[in-house]
Amino acid sequence: MRVAMVTGVSSGIGRVTALELGRRGFHLVGAGRSADRTMPVVEQIRSAGGSAEYLELDLMRLSSCLDAARRFVESGRTLELLVNNAAVGGTRGITPDGFEIHFGVNHLGHFMLTMGLGDSIRDGARIVQVTSAAHFNADGIDFERVRERTKSLFGWKEYGTSKLANMLFVRELAKRAPRLHVYGVHPGMTDTNIIPKIAKPFLRGRLFTVEQGADTVIWCATSDEVADQSGLYYRRRESRPPSDAALDDVLANRLWEQSETWCLETGLDSEGP
Ligand SMILES: NC(=O)c1ccc[n+]([C@@H]2O[C@H](COP(=O)([O-])OP(=O)(O)OC[C@H]3O[C@@H](n4cnc5c(N)ncnc54)[C@H](OP(=O)(O)O)[C@@H]3O)[C@@H](O)[C@H]2O)c1
Repeated sequence: MRVAMVTGVSSGIGRVTALELGRRGFHLVGAGRSADRTMPVVEQIRSAGGSAEYLELDLMRLSSCLDAARRFVESGRTLELLVNNAAVGGTRGITPDGFEIHFGVNHLGHFMLTMGLGDSIRDGARIVQVTSAAHFNADGIDFERVRERTKSLFGWKEYGTSKLANMLFVRELAKRAPRLHVYGVHPGMTDTNIIPKIAKPFLRGRLFTVEQGADTVIWCATSDEVADQSGLYYRRRESRPPSDAALDDVLANRLWEQSETWCLETGLDSEGP
């Protein structure tokens, strides 16, 4: 059975993506930090005749990301699809490992998970990284600032930086692992928990439903139309140019090298996919 792992399936775009992949015959590994919030999705897939399991993963903790990857590797299975979907947005803080919370969860946690999975991600597999058009708001990565508590009032500046990191990761991983297909997806402004409640009345009529938001994620995960592509940025089922900063190869390489160093310091012992 083809195995797909999706992070952050407890709500929003990840939940719809997981349900659809389960419906399409994947065995779904729903990775999240809360069994209470994730098991209902696992049960929903099972009760519709599909196959699914919960994998504990707290992206805020690099050790948890490594443990999750190791547990999957030790199961002896291979992954056909990895959807790095989970994220925080519009919050403030610092992770237990000392990273700005958006950078730590949205970028570095997924970096550790993907590296830890290593060659259990099989040849020809797809990795879909959910990024955001918010990456256009960041013109670079300040490697000092990503090690400090959130500075901006609501954290949206740091969210943009983390989403730039996601897009740089897509391009660099596509370059370093030509055996894989890697896609960066902006789902569109979607009515999920990440949109602040206070903003929703002002966005009425302009937000995608969760099904619309998940559409391009599922399309990149499964469509024959993108089967030969890698390293590109998509919105509304089309590849589009990402920001100039996202096209900076020197920055992409530096982010990779620095992220790898941080992960090696926290126990990573795999050379990645
Ligand atoms: N909605 C939009 O308008 C929009 C626009 C552009 C991009 N995106 C992107 O779309 C993706 C999905 O977001 P969404 O809109 O569906 O938001 P959401 O409903 O808030 O879902 C976020 C998911 O991430 C999980 N998560 C958060 N922190 C985590 C952690 N430390 N460890 C593991 N899982 C964690 C949440 O799980 P818990 O239940 O444990 O909190 C939840 O399942 C994100 O990458 C986001 O950046 C969304």
